Formats: sequence, C-alpha cells, structure tokens
Amino acid sequence: MGVDLTVPGPGWQVGFHLRVAGFRDKLLSIMVALNTLVQPPASAEGFSADAASRTDLAAAIRRLKKERNAVILAHNYQIGEIQDVADYVGDSLGLSYHAQKTDADVIVFCGVHFMAETAKIVNPTKTVILPDLDAGCSLSESCPPEKLAAFLERNADKNYYVIAYINCSAGVKALSDVIVTSGNAIKIVEAAPADRNILFVPDQNLGGWVMEKTGRKMDLWQGNCYVHVEFTRQSIERIRDQYPDAPVVAHPECTFAVRLLADEVCSTEKMISYCRDHEANAFIIVTEGGMLHRLRKEVPGKLFIAGPTDHCACADCRFMKMNTLEKLHDALLHLSPEITMPEEIRARAEKPILRMLEQSR
Ligand code: 13P
Ligand code: SF4
Repeated sequence: MGVDLTVPGPGWQVGFHLRVAGFRDKLLSIMVALNTLVQPPASAEGFSADAASRTDLAAAIRRLKKERNAVILAHNYQIGEIQDVADYVGDSLGLSYHAQKTDADVIVFCGVHFMAETAKIVNPTKTVILPDLDAGCSLSESCPPEKLAAFLERNADKNYYVIAYINCSAGVKALSDVIVTSGNAIKIVEAAPADRNILFVPDQNLGGWVMEKTGRKMDLWQGNCYVHVEFTRQSIERIRDQYPDAPVVAHPECTFAVRLLADEVCSTEKMISYCRDHEANAFIIVTEGGMLHRLRKEVPGKLFIAGPTDHCACADCRFMKMNTLEKLHDALLHLSPEITMPEEIRARAEKPILRMLEQSR
C-alpha cells in the first residue's frame, strides 16, 4: 500500500516505513506474532483440525506416554505440534545423549529413521518406535553400506580411519571408526589419529566445512542432503538484500557457496544460543523450516526469516514431515512401528557411537 515502516534495531529495515515512532514497537510485535502463526495440520479420524480437538489429541498422547512409561524425543525439524508434546527437542547430538541416558521403557523417536536407529543401537533392550517407518533421509540413502564396504575393500591400502556423520544407516555405522554430528564434528576430527588417512561419509558439504575449520585433509564421500543443497547463493543473496542487517545462520549441510554468505555456520542446537545471545533483532535461518518453531518459542521478540530456495520461500524435509500428531498417537497406542536390527550389526554400530559420545563430552 506504499506505507513505509522502519522497525527498531540496528538499521534493520522491512519493506515499508512508518514514521510514527510510538507504533514501531507495536508493529514489531505484530510481525513477530504473525511470524509465529502455524498452519493447523490435516484432520484425522476422531481428531479434527480444530484447536480443541488438537488439544485433546495432545492430551491423549501425554496420557498414553505415562501409561507406557515412554519418552518422546523430537528433532528440531519436526512439526510444531510434535515439538510441543515432546519431552526433549534438539539436534542429533542432544538427542543421542538423551536416548542414551533415558530410563523410560519406550523411546518414541520423532525424527527420521537413522535417528531412531541410533537410539535403538544404544538401547538394545528398550522398545524404540518411529511414528512413520518411511521417514528416511536422502543423505543416509546416498551411502549404502554395501557400496561403502566395496570402496573400503578396493582402497584397503589406504587403511582409512572412517568418520561417519550420524546421518547414515546402522550398516554404515558398523563400518566406521567414529560417528560425528554437526555439533561435535570439528572436535572429533581434530582428535582423529594424525597418522591415518580419513574417509568422511556421507556428506560432502559437512565434510568440506570440517576440513575448512580444522585444516585436516579428508577424502569425502559424494553424498548430500536434498534439502540443504536447494539453498543457492542467489536465493540467499536476494533475502539478505531485503534484510541487510539480519545475520545469516546456515547449517553446515549447505553448499560452500551458501556457507560463504553465512555469518554463522552451526548445528541446529547452536542456532538457538547464537540467536538468543546475538544483539540483532532478526535472523535469516538457512536450514529446514521446522527449526523456526523452536526459535520463535525459545527466543521470543525476535524475527526469524526462513532462508528461501530458488523456487520456494522455505525448505521442508519431506521425510521429517512424515510424522504427524495422529501417527505419534497411534505409535504409542500400538507400540509400533518398532525399530529392529540384527544384533551383530547393532553391536558393531554401537562402538563408534559410544566413542563419539565419550569424545564430545
Ligand atoms: P543437526 O544435528 O544439526 O540437528 O542436523 C541434523 C540434520 O538432519 C540436518 O539435516
Ligand atoms: Fe536427511 Fe536432509 Fe532431511 Fe536432514 S534435512 S533428515 S539430512 S534429508
């Protein structure tokens, strides 16, 4: 409508400018509130999409959770409704620690398959369930264990020390020396034996970022995350031009070109403390869209702008979004779908995970 508004903050501008200073704070809170609105999910049998029914469904989940002596662990990319009923919401590292130390009988893992699998690996006697068993991960898929085994055999002369990003299957973990997450990769690569060649699997982007940070040469498996490679230099430059004073916070799974534009590259957990501690009022968050729910909840009063791709205003991981409140409810009710794996693979996969948990303390 051609109205101009300047919102307080270190030079932070939005597309219009209001000169009546008294309205500025109000307007900022309205924008932050609008920014916080979430879409109601699709309705399911017995529980419609209206707010009262969602509250009933959440209450039913909490009841079932108590009856089953279950704990609900959710990744930062889960839909807001799931984050809100979870006992713990965090990044892969925090989730692994919680999975390891829980005394619940049942772990309901609201995330993707490799995350639930990791929880099972460190808890062989517990029931671990994932609301949707099809919630996979393109990055994990990019490194099948048979291909990795064949590669290691072909390159046996290199005597690789295999460092695997946690986004991989139990089969790949079983072939690895140590596991890393985005939150501890630098520390763990720095601690790798100096006299060994390193093979880093499966994420070439996260591996590249770790090499830049540590100066340690590594051979990189050519896998990537289909969500994070959608962000481009152009798409991030465009949004940065719109919000020139908003720091760009990117996940290390982004490409080199995007990481170069970022003020901070970090794990999803670190994004919370970075935005909380930073003096800026607005941030461009270059990772999966679910992250914004937690940021808006835990860092109130600041504006979080989803990093866009070239064809969309944000980026959602279709696998992370397969879990719904309805599926979570049914999973708790039936204690299914359950994560299982051959004991031989589990036992081999556990060693590099425990090494990681030990080394990143
Ligand atoms: P974080 O461990 O940083 O949460 O990352 C997990 C992930 O799958 C990123 O795509
Ligand atoms: Fe995998 Fe990417 Fe989805 Fe993370 S965002 S779970 S790496 S596909």
